[in-house]
Amino acid sequence: MPGADGLVVAHVSDLHLGADDPAAVGSLAADVAAARPVLTVVTGDFVMRAYTEQFRRAAALLDSLPDPVLAVSGNHDLPLLSPRRLLSPYGRFRRWIDDDLAPVVRVRGITAVGLQSSTRWRFTQGRVARRPARAAAATLAAAPAGDLRLLAMHHPPPQLLWHSRLPAADLLLAGHTHLPAVRPLPPHGTLVVAGTATSRRTRGIPPSWSLLTVGPDELQVRERYLGPDGWYTGRSVRCPMAGFQPLHAS
Ligand SMILES: [Fe+2]
Repeated sequence: MPGADGLVVAHVSDLHLGADDPAAVGSLAADVAAARPVLTVVTGDFVMRAYTEQFRRAAALLDSLPDPVLAVSGNHDLPLLSPRRLLSPYGRFRRWIDDDLAPVVRVRGITAVGLQSSTRWRFTQGRVARRPARAAAATLAAAPAGDLRLLAMHHPPPQLLWHSRLPAADLLLAGHTHLPAVRPLPPHGTLVVAGTATSRRTRGIPPSWSLLTVGPDELQVRERYLGPDGWYTGRSVRCPMAGFQPLHAS
């Protein structure tokens, strides 16, 4: 029953296989599984250069994470300088990670939707395309009353072109910056940015992933960092869930 302790969601991002930290790759799945999430969200940059061998390793790591998983692509998951960038930008992502570029996962208490924000025309900045954004908005709007409406994409709004097209959601989960953050998302939502879970591109802070607990009144985000003795909870952020009125609260 999701009500008593809240809904536990694991948010993992920016794996960057090919520029990875072997200690993080080898220990991430066990740490995520120990949290017993009802949903695992992976917000892109599975690989460093979109090579098949990197995707093979990313797929193996993804397989080891607790189900169900919602996955979206990041800018590094598209070929960088190759004709494939134009002809089949999502080809290897679809083959190795998820064939569905508009994934929807429904678990008890949560309707979760993935939106691709990486495009062949831009190398680091993201973009919200009109048609998938409308489809995601329709899915979230049709969520059962009381469901947490969760939207997942690689780029957080500041790095996102056309972010005015973003569907309304209670939670927006993103990555890309490698800097964990929790911020208000107007009008009523919360943006959670996860750090890089397994890459060496850490920008001064250790590999991390974010453990979310969504309770009746508040969201708790515990950032799990990798230290010399394994994963530990670093920063813990609590904030009210202003726009979320779960049925189990009444
Ligand atoms: Fe990225």
